[in-house]
Amino acid sequence: MMKSRFFLLFLMSFYSSIPKIFTTTTDVIATNQSIIDGETVVSSGGSFEMGFFNPSGSKKGYIGIWYKQIRTHVQTVVWVANREKPLTNTSSAVLKFTKSGMLALFNDKNEIIWSTNTSRSVENPVALLLDSGNLVVKDANDGNPDNFLWQSFDFATDTQLPGKKLRTGHEVYLSAWKSDNDPTPAEFTLHFDPTGYPQGLVRNGTKVSIRVGPWNGLWRCGGPAPQQIQSRIFTFQFVFNKEEVYYSFSLINSSVLTRLVLTSGGSIQRLTWVDKTKSWYPYINIPLDPCDRYGLCGAYGSCVMDSSPFCGCLDNFVAKHPKQWEKGDWSEGCVRKTPLDCNKEHVFVKYSGVKLPDTKSSQYNKTMTLEGCRQVCSRNCSCTAYSSLDISKGDKGCLFWFGELIDIRKIAGTGQDIYIRMDSSVLGKYLC
Ligand SMILES: *[C@@H]1O[C@H](CO)[C@@H](O)[C@H](O)[C@H]1NC(C)=O
Ligand SMILES: *[C@@H]1O[C@H](CO)[C@@H](O)[C@H](O)[C@H]1NC(C)=O
Ligand SMILES: *[C@@H]1O[C@H](CO)[C@@H](O)[C@H](O)[C@H]1NC(C)=O
Ligand SMILES: *[C@@H]1O[C@H](CO)[C@@H](O)[C@H](O)[C@H]1NC(C)=O
Ligand SMILES: *[C@@H]1O[C@H](CO)[C@@H](O)[C@H](O)[C@H]1NC(C)=O
Ligand SMILES: *[C@@H]1O[C@H](CO)[C@@H](O)[C@H](O)[C@H]1NC(C)=O
Ligand SMILES: *[C@@H]1O[C@H](CO)[C@@H](O)[C@H](O)[C@H]1NC(C)=O
Repeated sequence: MMKSRFFLLFLMSFYSSIPKIFTTTTDVIATNQSIIDGETVVSSGGSFEMGFFNPSGSKKGYIGIWYKQIRTHVQTVVWVANREKPLTNTSSAVLKFTKSGMLALFNDKNEIIWSTNTSRSVENPVALLLDSGNLVVKDANDGNPDNFLWQSFDFATDTQLPGKKLRTGHEVYLSAWKSDNDPTPAEFTLHFDPTGYPQGLVRNGTKVSIRVGPWNGLWRCGGPAPQQIQSRIFTFQFVFNKEEVYYSFSLINSSVLTRLVLTSGGSIQRLTWVDKTKSWYPYINIPLDPCDRYGLCGAYGSCVMDSSPFCGCLDNFVAKHPKQWEKGDWSEGCVRKTPLDCNKEHVFVKYSGVKLPDTKSSQYNKTMTLEGCRQVCSRNCSCTAYSSLDISKGDKGCLFWFGELIDIRKIAGTGQDIYIRMDSSVLGKYLC
C-alpha cells in the first residue's frame, strides 16, 4: 500500500500539471480550422486528445497527444510534435494547415516551427486523430490507411502504443525524452537493428546499453518476461521478410491502457494503467538487474544473477586476463581452455537456459532442422555456434554465429539452448 502510494506520488510529481480547461472541437482539423492553446482535438472513441501542453514545471510549450480518460490524474503524453523546437509563448501560437496542405505549427511571430511533410498533396487534406493515438493527414474523402499522406506512428517518440510498428527501412524507433519534463530527444534510442538477425537494441549515444534478444517465436528472449501475464493482455507481431522487419503488439482487451516506453534514464518499461490506484504500473522494466547491461561479462562470459560475482565464464572457458577478472573487470571476457584449431576435429557443446548472444554478426535460415544447422555450422570453421531460430512449435530454423559470443546470461525458464564449437578433447568430459 505504502509502496503504491509512493509510486503514485512519484508519477504525479513528474507528469501531472494543473489540469487545464480545454475546449474540444472534434477529431478532425480541416483546412479552414485551427487549434490554439486551450483547444483540443479528441479521437472519436474518446481515448486520446491532442493540443498544446506545458510539461509540469516547464514554461516551454508543445503540441502533444495524451490519454484523454486519465488526464485529470496524470497527463501522460505519448507523442510530441515540436520536440526539438519548443514554443516560448503559446498564447498566439496556432496549429493549422498551410496553403500547400501541410499541417503546421506557427509560433507567435507566425513562423513555422514544425510541420508534417507530405510527399504528395491532395485537394482537401484533413488531420484526423484516430482512437489508437495515431494522428494522420489524409484526403478528406479517402479512408484507406495505405493512402495516408502522413502519420505520427511513422515517427520516433518515446512511446510505442498498440498498433505502432517499430521497424527498419523507413525506420521507426523509440527516442527517449531528456528528462520527465523535457521531451527534447536524449541520447537513448531503441532501434530494431537489422544487422544479422534482427534484435532490439537500446543505445546510449552510439554505444549499445541493453540488448533485447532475438525473436524466437515466443518472446524476444531478453529479460525474464512474465509471459503468462503478457499473453492475456497482448498479442505480439514480429514480421521479418524481404520487404520489411517490424515489431508491434495489439491488445486482446481494448479497454486496457498499456504502452511501452523508453524512459529518460534509458530503460524499457511496459506500463499498464491501474484504475484503482490511478497510476501506471510498470510490470516490465529492463534493465531489471546488472545482467541486463550489455556485454557485462565480455565474450564467452555468462551473467548469473544469483551467483557472486555475477560474471563467470561458460563451462570449458577461462578468464582471458585472470588478474583483471579477479578484480571485477570482466570486459575482456573469456577464452576456450583448449583453443580451436581449424585443422583438428571439433564438437558442439550444448549450453542450456541462456539468453542467446548478440546476433549482430549472425546468419539465419528459417527452414532447416537443428541437425541441419549442426551440419552447416560444422562445415565452416568460423561458425562458432548455432541454435534453433524459432522454438514456438518445436525447433525450427537456425541461427549461426560467426566470431565471439557476447552478452550471454542465464535465464531461468525462458532461456534457450545454444551449441558452441569446441575442440573435441572436451568430449571426454561429456561421455562419462
Ligand atoms: C469548414 O468547411 C466545412 C466544409 O466546407 C464546413 O462544413 C465547416 O463549417 C467549415 N468550418 C469552419 C470553422 O469554417
Ligand atoms: C505572449 O504573447 C502575447 C501575445 O502576443 C503577449 O501579449 C504576451 O505578453 C506574451 N507573453 C510573454 C510571456 O512573452
Ligand atoms: C520534406 O522531405 C523532403 C525529403 O525527405 C526534404 O527534402 C524536405 O526538406 C522536407 N520538407 C520539409 C518542409 O521538412
Ligand atoms: C550513458 O552514457 C554516458 C556518457 O557516456 C554515461 O555517463 C552514462 O552513465 C550512460 N548511462 C547509462 C544508463 O548507461
Ligand atoms: C476488459 O478489461 C476490463 C477492465 O479491466 C474488464 O472490466 C473487462 O471485463 C475485460 N473484458 C474482457 C472481455 O476480458
Ligand atoms: C535454408 O536451408 C534450405 C535447406 O538447406 C535451403 O534450401 C535454403 O536455400 C536456405 N535458405 C537460405 C536463405 O539460406
Ligand atoms: C565461412 O563463413 C564466413 C561467414 O559467412 C564466410 O565469409 C566464409 O567465406 C565461409 N568460409 C567457407 C570456407 O565457406
